[in-house]
Amino acid sequence: MQDLREKYLGLIAEASDEASIEALRVQAVGKKGEVALQMRELGKMTPEERQIMGPKLNALKDEINSALGAKKAALADAALDERLRSEWLDVTLPGRGRPAGTIHPISQVTEEVTAIFADLGFAVAEGPQIETDWYNFDALNIPGHHPARAEMDTFYMARAEGDDRPPHVLRTHTSPVQIRSMEKNGAPIRIVCPGRVYRADYDQTHTPMFHQIEGLAIDTDISMANLKWVLEEFVKSFFGVDDVELRFRASHFPFTEPSAEVDIRCSWEGGVLKVGEGDDWLEILGSGMVHPKVLQAGGIDPTTNQGFAFGMGIDRIAMLKYGIPDLRAFFDSDLRWLRHYGFSALQQPNLHGGL
Ligand code: PHE
Repeated sequence: MQDLREKYLGLIAEASDEASIEALRVQAVGKKGEVALQMRELGKMTPEERQIMGPKLNALKDEINSALGAKKAALADAALDERLRSEWLDVTLPGRGRPAGTIHPISQVTEEVTAIFADLGFAVAEGPQIETDWYNFDALNIPGHHPARAEMDTFYMARAEGDDRPPHVLRTHTSPVQIRSMEKNGAPIRIVCPGRVYRADYDQTHTPMFHQIEGLAIDTDISMANLKWVLEEFVKSFFGVDDVELRFRASHFPFTEPSAEVDIRCSWEGGVLKVGEGDDWLEILGSGMVHPKVLQAGGIDPTTNQGFAFGMGIDRIAMLKYGIPDLRAFFDSDLRWLRHYGFSALQQPNLHGGL
């Protein structure tokens, strides 16, 4: 027994991994291991011998088992230490350079515009890009036969065969959000609604998907003068200049009466677009006093409420502010363009930090 004890305690001390510990366990105290073989010998002994040898063999078995357990734990500790050493990381090393992504000018300008209107007391509202023709047209006083439907170059969604309800449309403007927000919150309202809109049109200043921001202010006494002031304040903040010239041009929209389109003075000389100078005008928004029928469609009483609405092209004002002459480049995903015109992710636009 003394030999067995020394042999196994020695082998356990030398073991260098968990697999050899397991092999030793089978060899020493397993069912057919050496200690078990000795235990079988007990049967051949006299009762007196057995009384001495039995407990001794059990004690040996326990001793070997606990040596195995202790060694196993020590090996696991050592493995953990080794792992901690090899996976150590020097967090004081300088970071590796990697190509920085940038914020797209459309996202940046959307943030800038909402920051300005938020400062003027407008909340942000949103609506779906796939609209029913009720929200996109009818509720905005554009009935089925109205020429404005054709003028908008609308994308219609397909209906299943045999389904002759009017098709859904890709919203042609953000104005349907006016109705949704009147329905949801009632008067008074002061909101802006930025988002994507769609029209089948493509040239230097038109793309089939583009961005608008709708403005809507409804209360008991809101007038065209408020509209003018808000837009002038906006333009001064957005371009950071006091002398941007706006031109309010009488116009017509079915959902406003009276209506005005607003152009901004600019020049396109030598392919460079500049704001506030030159003899050209770029149209940036449509606006007017909300038509009583539109208030009614949104569930607001037009005899006690009135207000203004406008829809501004985000892409257009982004072109103007950052001197980007071709709208189509916005959506080409050309990395060189994105790196040149993109913004740092850490440059959050806000009024106190600057736009
Ligand atoms: N929805 C109009 C357009 O897309 C713009 C507009 C909005 C005009 C609100 C007046 C009032 O052209």
